[in-house]
Amino acid sequence: MNIAIITGASSGLGTEYYKVIQDEVLDEVWIIARREGALNEISQKYGKIKTRVIPLDLTVDESHEKLLNIIKEENPNIKYLFNNAGFGAYGKLDEIDLSKQTNMIDLNVKALTKITYYALGYMQEGAKIINTASIVAFAPVPNMAVYSATKKYVMSFSRALRHELRKRKINVTAVCPGAMPTEFFTVAGVDSDKKSLINKMPFCNTAKVAKNGFKAAKRGRAVYTPRLLYKFLRLVGKIVPHSILIKFVSA
Ligand SMILES: NC(=O)c1ccc[n+]([C@@H]2O[C@H](COP(=O)([O-])OP(=O)(O)OC[C@H]3O[C@@H](n4cnc5c(N)ncnc54)[C@H](OP(=O)(O)O)[C@@H]3O)[C@@H](O)[C@H]2O)c1
Repeated sequence: MNIAIITGASSGLGTEYYKVIQDEVLDEVWIIARREGALNEISQKYGKIKTRVIPLDLTVDESHEKLLNIIKEENPNIKYLFNNAGFGAYGKLDEIDLSKQTNMIDLNVKALTKITYYALGYMQEGAKIINTASIVAFAPVPNMAVYSATKKYVMSFSRALRHELRKRKINVTAVCPGAMPTEFFTVAGVDSDKKSLINKMPFCNTAKVAKNGFKAAKRGRAVYTPRLLYKFLRLVGKIVPHSILIKFVSA
């Protein structure tokens, strides 16, 4: 059974990935998030491929084990894995609830790593892993210290794993969007009136990020960054020392 797994499919970019994947030849798509109702709704609305709704809180270790058990039971061929579930928090480290920040690490880093580890045993030549990173992976971002560090991890992990998996011909792509108009900002606690850098950044079209990010993954690309400005920022992040860059990127 050929399948795709999408985490964080109940809204935003994950829902767009779900729509994009409908044109693939797959037996099933497994979609994961906490909100079962929202997952059912998107599957009814956009699903052409048989969809398995798996409601899980991926900050919890037992959820990872539950997913592993389902994988073991079904023994699928995982053609596409979208590690997309994630959230951010805006503010200084000591101003944001500590458990929110450690949950962020549990979801953005730990769950992504564990799910990838489990999935690898069920992937064959040609499989694709698509990890949602962010432009905040290009430099450390004050007022998003933990979030930007988690996305730097996603970027570094994706690149290293891609190299490890070369012989198996499994590709790993880090998708690095700039701001997208999703629930992200509400969850992160970004006030839309705030004159912060985040509110000045041009938005990316979420559907286009999903479509082009998936296209880049199918072409075997290591990184996909939408919009010229963000491509330029990626380059700047490689050239300009972070000690200088950090003065300009405070969220
Ligand atoms: N929007 C942006 O500006 C932006 C920019 C760059 C990168 N990103 C990244 O893009 C990815 C998708 O975010 P989005 O913009 O689409 O925001 P979103 O609409 O808030 O989507 C986040 C998704 O993650 C799921 N999720 C959150 N906590 C979870 C948990 N504990 N367990 C399982 N699933 C959980 C949410 O589902 P439930 O709430 O139902 O659990 C939702 O489906 C994230 O990794 C984010 O960091 C976003």
